[in-house]
Amino acid sequence: MADTMIGVIGGSGLYEIDGLENATWQSVETPWGAPSDAILTGKLDGVSMAFLPRHGRGHVHSPTTVPYRANIDALKRLGVTDVISVSACGSFREEMAPGDFVIVDQFIDRTFAREKSFFGTGCVAHVSVAHPTCPRLGAACLKAAKDTGITVHNGGTYLAMEGPQFSTLAESKMYRDSWGADVIGMTNMPEAKLAREAELCYASVAMITDYDSWHPDHGEVDVTQIIATLMGNASKARDMVAKLPTLLGAERDPCVHGCDRALEYAILTAPD
Ligand code: ADE
Repeated sequence: MADTMIGVIGGSGLYEIDGLENATWQSVETPWGAPSDAILTGKLDGVSMAFLPRHGRGHVHSPTTVPYRANIDALKRLGVTDVISVSACGSFREEMAPGDFVIVDQFIDRTFAREKSFFGTGCVAHVSVAHPTCPRLGAACLKAAKDTGITVHNGGTYLAMEGPQFSTLAESKMYRDSWGADVIGMTNMPEAKLAREAELCYASVAMITDYDSWHPDHGEVDVTQIIATLMGNASKARDMVAKLPTLLGAERDPCVHGCDRALEYAILTAPD
């Protein structure tokens, strides 16, 4: 058994977590540069926690400029074993309404202006991301959300777009009708891919703020609408996070889905 350390990457609207014992903001340096911000560490119900505001306190990083590699590497260096991503998203489904949460289990990666791998010249590796999230961690998030009284959808395909502009109406309809995406956001990629390369379990909790631009009865998405919905969601998200330590426990077995051994058969470069 190894010690659990839960890393929470908080998106828009989630800039802290409540009730941490020995709460300390720690600055972490990585070979990939500085993470988005210092990382808040401490214990909650006897379990080690690390919280990183994805956009930095004060929201200074856009989805494109978030230092995704430094963020994942910094969490790994602190000893994080399980990463929970919390982020805002738009919905392509009538039944997935603003205010609801989705436990995302698939992604379509449409980002194009971000560094997406820890590997490249010198060491080449190809990890599988066929199943990009950890089902054990996703199940814990689902239970935590249900126990908090949140309307939560179990499973959904998240289209990661580059932004920072929202989608055109034609794109929104294509993602929904032809591509089968359920929700859309700007930050979960390459985060999920990098977590897999770092052999970290990763789950994504997407908080729906809007219907993007496809819905005939709703106006086009704007930031005011997103912030208003997020304000209502932030306390729900914090209550959900607070339930995770008890659900996951202070110690963990190796991941039954192999997230923590993703590199075992992935590296092609010969050792020196
Ligand atoms: N984040 C919140 N709503 C979004 C949307 N409609 N598109 C992309 N990112 C979002």
